[in-house]
Amino acid sequence: MAIADLNAAGAATVAAEVQAAAPDCKVFGQAVDVADAAAVQALTDEATRRFGRVDVFCSNAGIILRKGLDASAEEWQRIWDINVMAHIHAAKAVLPQMLERGDGYFVNTVSAAGLLSQIGSAPYAVTKHAAIGFAEWLSITYGDRGIKVSCICPQGVQTNMLFGEKGERKGFLQEGSVTAEHVANATLEGMADERFLILPHPEVLEYYQRKGQDYDRWLRGMRRLHEKVMQEFGGIAV
Ligand SMILES: NC(=O)c1ccc[n+]([C@@H]2O[C@H](COP(=O)([O-])OP(=O)(O)OC[C@H]3O[C@@H](n4cnc5c(N)ncnc54)[C@H](O)[C@@H]3O)[C@@H](O)[C@H]2O)c1
Repeated sequence: MAIADLNAAGAATVAAEVQAAAPDCKVFGQAVDVADAAAVQALTDEATRRFGRVDVFCSNAGIILRKGLDASAEEWQRIWDINVMAHIHAAKAVLPQMLERGDGYFVNTVSAAGLLSQIGSAPYAVTKHAAIGFAEWLSITYGDRGIKVSCICPQGVQTNMLFGEKGERKGFLQEGSVTAEHVANATLEGMADERFLILPHPEVLEYYQRKGQDYDRWLRGMRRLHEKVMQEFGGIAV
């Protein structure tokens, strides 16, 4: 198993934890910026050299930007490069060997924001929609050639992104948030069924169906939610 993160120490720590939990598993950790196509290719090459092949690529890294129209072009580009392009770099790097074998799995962490929206963050809502769009395309184009694709679409998950590094952040998605372990278990279940959408919060399916059934009604409901969140959290929505 290869574990990569921008944070080299974080990747090494997780790699050591996995190694301790699974002594028979070959594990390495590596610092990688997933926005850098060459770095993702190098990671894939290294994993293939060590293990013979890549069966599953989990494209999980993501960032949030708590901004709307005040986000700069540079900020839009950075979040686009991480939340969208990283999935594309992963597919480019690993798809050829998967197609050759007629087997492979892309597990992309997206968000319920990719199906619904993100109150208070235009760049997050937009990039997560794009990530779903790319995953759909991948599944449509290569699904009949043995390529499986899943998108993990949780609402709040109890990580630094939602709570801040010191637990200092307050946000409406904290209520009803789940642990990373809960998401991991839902992911394993979803992968066993080869389900495209993995929904650790099952209610997201209902919200998504409501959006599909009556878009305008859904938008009215979302405006009410936006208003409520703005009032309760003093203008800081996420
Ligand atoms: N936490 C939530 O409430 C929530 C909800 C839905 C979806 N998600 C998604 O889950 C995924 C994981 O987020 P998280 O909650 O663990 O956030 P987090 O901020 O706690 O962790 C994100 C990790 O990604 C790494 N990272 C950031 N930019 C990177 C880059 N360019 N290259 C490599 N690594 C990079 C960070 O170092 C960090 O370890 C993201 O895609 C996020 O959008 C999170």
